[in-house]
Amino acid sequence: MSLAPVARPANLGPATPPSDEELVLKVIPMPADCNANGDIFGGWVMAQVDLAGSVIPARYAGGRMATVAVNEFLFKQPVRVGDLLSFYSKLVRIGRTSLTVKVEVFAERIPAQGQFVKVTEATLTYVCIDEQGKPREVPHRPAMTAG
Ligand SMILES: CC(C)(COP(=O)(O)OP(=O)(O)OC[C@H]1O[C@@H](n2cnc3c(N)ncnc32)[C@H](O)[C@@H]1OP(=O)(O)O)[C@@H](O)C(=O)NCCC(=O)NCCS
Repeated sequence: MSLAPVARPANLGPATPPSDEELVLKVIPMPADCNANGDIFGGWVMAQVDLAGSVIPARYAGGRMATVAVNEFLFKQPVRVGDLLSFYSKLVRIGRTSLTVKVEVFAERIPAQGQFVKVTEATLTYVCIDEQGKPREVPHRPAMTAG
């Protein structure tokens, strides 16, 4: 059986997930995550981005860490119930006690699986903390490449 091509509204440009970033989370928002417009609540998206952003820093933290800053957060397109969301991330900076990551979120709309729309991008910083909640040095330092 062949499927008919899916028409895409003109204002939703296609996007290609980045090849230099790692897929760290996939999730589908549910009706309970909606705002009064019927789109997905921005705070829900921010929570998912915070979780997704922590995945790579956790490899280097070797223990507890905390989100110290959301340096940038852009909602480029609304997120809808049933979208299949893919969160891509990469490490962009490593400091003495902190790690900063970029997170990009792509939606596959129902029923347009395989067609990606970039809905959100963000930059977040995580700090390695000790048992007293004070900053500690990043114990495992990744090799950073230019680019
Ligand atoms: C995270 C926390 C331990 C940092 O303590 P602090 O005394 O402010 O620490 P510092 O000022 O020494 O900063 C620690 C690191 O964070 C970085 N940092 C601080 N503010 C920053 C900002 N706005 N943007 C980017 N990095 C920032 C510093 O540059 C430093 O990194 P470096 O050592 O790699 O250079 C403390 O702020 C805290 O407990 N915050 C609450 C965390 C939390 O509850 N997060 C969840 C929110 S619901």
